[in-house]
Amino acid sequence: MAKAEIKPKDNGSLRISGDFVIKDVDGNVFDLGGRTEISLCRCGHSSNKPFCDSTHKRINFQSVVRAFALPPAPPREPGS
Ligand code: FES
Repeated sequence: MAKAEIKPKDNGSLRISGDFVIKDVDGNVFDLGGRTEISLCRCGHSSNKPFCDSTHKRINFQSVVRAFALPPAPPREPGS
């Protein structure tokens, strides 16, 4: 299992570092060209999704989040 750190950057992307892989919905792995850190688009406006292309700056994307606790996860149905 990959071990990664994901940081939502203030008014920007999700920065991922560590040991990770990024797959499409079919399970195909993106070739990251040897990068060990990458930024995923959080604003929804990148022309290179799922990666950030810095468009968030041009559109003045605003989102500042700090860590908080989610409520307990609901029980999963068997087989889900
Ligand atoms: S977060 Fe950077 S382009 Fe969307």
